[in-house]
Amino acid sequence: MSATPERRTRLTPGDIRARKGGAPIACLTAYTTPMARLMDRACDLVLVGDSLGMVLHGLPSTLGVTMEMMILHGRAVARGIERACLVVDMPFGSYEESPEQAMRNAARLVAETGCQAVKLEGGQHMAGTVRFLVERGIPVMGHVGLTPQSVNALGGYKVQGRGEDGARVAADAQALSEAGAFAVVLEKLPESLGARITEGIAAPTIGIGAGAGCDGQVLVVDDILGLFADFQPKFVRRYADLGRAAEAAIASYAEDVRARRFPAPEHGFADQGKPA
Ligand code: KIV
Repeated sequence: MSATPERRTRLTPGDIRARKGGAPIACLTAYTTPMARLMDRACDLVLVGDSLGMVLHGLPSTLGVTMEMMILHGRAVARGIERACLVVDMPFGSYEESPEQAMRNAARLVAETGCQAVKLEGGQHMAGTVRFLVERGIPVMGHVGLTPQSVNALGGYKVQGRGEDGARVAADAQALSEAGAFAVVLEKLPESLGARITEGIAAPTIGIGAGAGCDGQVLVVDDILGLFADFQPKFVRRYADLGRAAEAAIASYAEDVRARRFPAPEHGFADQGKPA
């Protein structure tokens, strides 16, 4: 064995940026260590999304998610990631006030979780903040189109950028790319707009309901595994039905307990004899 342990290196935000126009970038959300371990080899980018508020904590939206929640789950995910690039979402209220506020909180996320980059929502009005963070050493992923933290202003989780509004969303993505974002999430846009933005900006686009023309795709892991049954957006493909499998397993366990079929002799410990 070597005296210096092998140090595995993660993909960097620069590696992700270099994938523009190349092999599509696979991204999923993760919120826990075991799930992070399961996706580390398959995914290029792992996002600790503030969707954890709804998916894990039963909140009605992402608006109640705090820095402490993002740090707790960010740390957990970082323990499970060796290869993928790790990004943590900045929660609502942690960056909008000023570039200085964004810097303070982004630095906390990076220092306290071990993530390599942060993601924040918003277009042209956030470009100055993105530039401020990037110039101070914090890689940033942008997020335009449907920005869930603005659900009250947007009047719901509707498709964005239809018709003339497309030019605004395209300008948002362009502004973030020019400000130095290493990638930009495009959420819930017409396919044609997703493709047009992808062709027009230097940063890779990561689509979620923005069509196959994006440079990569992101989904919420619980959605693809059938674990979050509250609501299934049209843009999700379900690859497994683990929620139903878990429900059936739990019901079998409870029946076994009530029928005294569990525990069985092999689950018990003798008073003397073989050590446990
Ligand atoms: O919070 C989240 O999970 C996200 C995406 C899925 C893009 O922002």
